[in-house]
Amino acid sequence: MTTTSFNQGKGLGQPVGVAVLGMGTVGTEVLRLIAENPNAYANRIGGPIEIRGVAVSDLSRPREGVDPALLTDDALGLINRDDVDIVVEVIGGIEYPRELVLAALKAGKSVVTANKALVAAHAGELADAANEAGVDLYYEAAVAAAIPVVGMLRRSLAGDQIQRISGIVNGTTNFILDAMTSTGASYDDALAEATRLGYAEADPTADVEGHDAASKAAILASLGFHTRVSFDDVYCEGISKITAEDIEAAKEAGYTIKLLAICEKLVDEEGNKSVNARVHPTLVPNEHPLATVDKSYNAIFVEAEAAGRLMFYGNGAGGAPTASAVCGDLIGAARNKIHGGRAPGDNPYANQPIADFGEVPTRYHIDMRVEDRTGVLADLANRFANAGISLRTVRQEEDAENEARLIVVTHEALEKDLRAMVEELAALPNVKEVKSVIRLDS
Ligand code: HSE
Repeated sequence: MTTTSFNQGKGLGQPVGVAVLGMGTVGTEVLRLIAENPNAYANRIGGPIEIRGVAVSDLSRPREGVDPALLTDDALGLINRDDVDIVVEVIGGIEYPRELVLAALKAGKSVVTANKALVAAHAGELADAANEAGVDLYYEAAVAAAIPVVGMLRRSLAGDQIQRISGIVNGTTNFILDAMTSTGASYDDALAEATRLGYAEADPTADVEGHDAASKAAILASLGFHTRVSFDDVYCEGISKITAEDIEAAKEAGYTIKLLAICEKLVDEEGNKSVNARVHPTLVPNEHPLATVDKSYNAIFVEAEAAGRLMFYGNGAGGAPTASAVCGDLIGAARNKIHGGRAPGDNPYANQPIADFGEVPTRYHIDMRVEDRTGVLADLANRFANAGISLRTVRQEEDAENEARLIVVTHEALEKDLRAMVEELAALPNVKEVKSVIRLDS
């Protein structure tokens, strides 16, 4: 038997009117979850959800699972209806959804969005509009779908000091790197497999060049460090130059290559504080929990002063997992609508400067081909020493005739000094080629 005890014993609350903008994979799943769980949602909220309309760009396209009378191509008209309390934005893109979300917030409607690119580019403007109107802006689905990292940073760890967040926040690139690691496939073959299986889009640029992960890194850093970090503040390097040889060299040294989003607080020698967010291929030690995250899974590793180390793992993409996060937010916004109160919003009070990436300490794994002659290794070691860069490991193997493969792993040094060192190495007559440079973590 289904019981319905709306509004925690206070009787049936008013219906909450919802407008859904977009009916792609996520929008369709959101509508399905709402339609399949009316009593559960009503009980959790204290009143029923009523869909007032679904805005789509093409009314002629057949749509399953929605009453055709609800469909409209007038998104602004739908948002501004008096009986719409909450707007769910699942369109994607930046400019058009920005216009719609701002219109909704200014009209006093709470907004739930899954749009990472929008939030990463315009978080400040959106948060200001939500604050002025006294409404909610929720975006759990913008980072790693149903993995509850936004709520974790906004609420669960609100009493702690986050030191560092590192994570695999893009499933497509994790699938590609994992395929290369487990089968020895080339980047092109692994990408083709990801495309065939529907992980990679026809134009995979946003995923493979790290842009999608950089949006998520901006959101995580902003929430974790109470500082506005936007997409443009994130250093971003993708995986398209990773070769099967890089993967093999990493394996031999006990590492797995992952595309990591890394957000950290920094304090320089003078005690100046700043924050850094970056996305790049990273050698992760095999014993680190992130190294074992395979296929298209996501995982976010959080280091907090009091809580210690935490890891959140699961599906970071897909219609149903993303819709789960959207509906969780929708229930929160609807509950606030009925019972009053607001969700914890962004609070960038710390306002730390964004570190110049050159000033960030990193570590390099450098794979070179050098002349196999007396004194070459000593010369290179001297150059590292003169630049103040300490070497952690050096491995040399015979390669072709009169040529050696030299793999150097450094200790931590400033990114700008490591970069300058690589440029110096590449220009040396003894160095035939700097094959690859990949950063290390932990
Ligand atoms: N394309 C993303 C991924 C999902 O591969 O993880 C949406 O952010």
